[in-house]
Amino acid sequence: MSILTNLKTRLTGEKAALALDDIQALILRSRPEPYVGVHAMLHIDDAAGGRDLLRRMAGHVPSAAGWTDDRDAWMGLAISFQGLKALGVPQASLDTFPLPFQQGMAQRAEQLRDFGSNAPEHWDEAFAPGACHIALTIYARDDAALAVALDQAMKELDQSSGVTLVGRHAFGADADAKNPFGFRDSISQPFVAGSGVEPLPGQERAIAAGEFILGENSETGKPVAMPEPPELGRNGSFVVLRKYESQVGAFNDFVRSQAQSESDEELLAAKLVGRWRSGAPLPLAPERDDPELGADPQRNNGFDFSRDPRGLVCPHAAHMRRLNPRDSQLSILTDVNIHRIIRRSSTYGPKWHRELTAQDDTGERGIYFIFISARAYDTIEFLQQEWINRGNFIDLGTERDPVVGLHETPGTFTIPQQPVRRRVDGVTTFNRLRGGEYLFMPSLGALRWIADARWS
Ligand code: HEM
Repeated sequence: MSILTNLKTRLTGEKAALALDDIQALILRSRPEPYVGVHAMLHIDDAAGGRDLLRRMAGHVPSAAGWTDDRDAWMGLAISFQGLKALGVPQASLDTFPLPFQQGMAQRAEQLRDFGSNAPEHWDEAFAPGACHIALTIYARDDAALAVALDQAMKELDQSSGVTLVGRHAFGADADAKNPFGFRDSISQPFVAGSGVEPLPGQERAIAAGEFILGENSETGKPVAMPEPPELGRNGSFVVLRKYESQVGAFNDFVRSQAQSESDEELLAAKLVGRWRSGAPLPLAPERDDPELGADPQRNNGFDFSRDPRGLVCPHAAHMRRLNPRDSQLSILTDVNIHRIIRRSSTYGPKWHRELTAQDDTGERGIYFIFISARAYDTIEFLQQEWINRGNFIDLGTERDPVVGLHETPGTFTIPQQPVRRRVDGVTTFNRLRGGEYLFMPSLGALRWIADARWS
């Protein structure tokens, strides 16, 4: 059963508590499977021209009302701090945005640990500081639906003045939703309280809506700080956008060099991620892949780590367990529920194949890693510092995430085993950062508020 078909059977019949008709659809709506789409980055040279384009584009951005219905394509729109400035949003409002957002992602390289090969000086031009003002994303079910939606967007752009397209990138994946490394992706998502559907197994702990939607109560019982005025802030959210170039050949070589057979390779790859390539999680499929389990949304996330406190099945250092330790005992206490993120990542480039080596990898595969959270900038900086580029919280000292960690010198991956744990050396930076930005995803009302310059 696909994620979307499944959604309809999960409707509670109660009216959703959130202002769905004001919230952008992309916040609640998962990507279709299979999916295709386009990310476009726009730069505003003229405020009036930018606002005119925003007004017309906003007409194509669906709301989250009916987010469980089938839909062929949808667009989401988010704006950087420099973009809000270029659109003429008054300084008094700009000053109410959080500091990291005001500074932009490139200026936060220190806090994000974006050093060495991940440093902003190596980024694509579309992400040069201040270049990306508006990020537009279209997700579609197939090429035909994408062509219609893209045509609409491009017509609006052609008719605008004072706006430049600085970057455009197509993406997509087949029905199995596999990422550049051949793993099913975007399986585990937080359950947003008040969204009007029943949680899936594994999502029983609903996360307060204010963790994702500005103006709603968060996990602390109060809304997180919201940009002013409320017409601008309410029902919006923040977005982290990071473009990665995946070093798939290097990853394949690494796994191959540490394994005796193809099945050994698959087991090591599963230990690195926490799931097998099909999406089946190690806690439910400890020994071999189970593609039926991996594809079943009713089962593939229904687990915790209570029966694996030592990480003998799923290592503490596995990407999935690091980024959502669930009920694991952590050496550094943290409320895992305030670090949950709605992931909307998209895969680009050719499909994964086992034979690809570092030598013949042309670097054309990757991920636009995108997530949504009302405290997105704080969360990504915490994740980059503590859970991705350190190991102290799981008693692993300086060991880093094997999938997205920055490894300026080759690192180690620890696999707990009886009688002695195994340490696998030679982990390199398997995902190189090629750019990124902090963005604000306004409500539909706020898009009109900006477009009509309602502050004046
Ligand atoms: C760019 C390369 C990345 C790759 C190839 C990748 C791959 C994966 C895969 C295969 C999964 C398991 C399936 C799933 O639940 O969706 C996963 C889970 C996850 N990843 Fe990543 N990821 C990447 C980057 C990131 C980054 C940068 C972050 C956070 C800053 C992140 C956060 C997460 C989270 C929160 C989960 C879900 C954990 C859970 O709830 O069980 N990922 N990732």
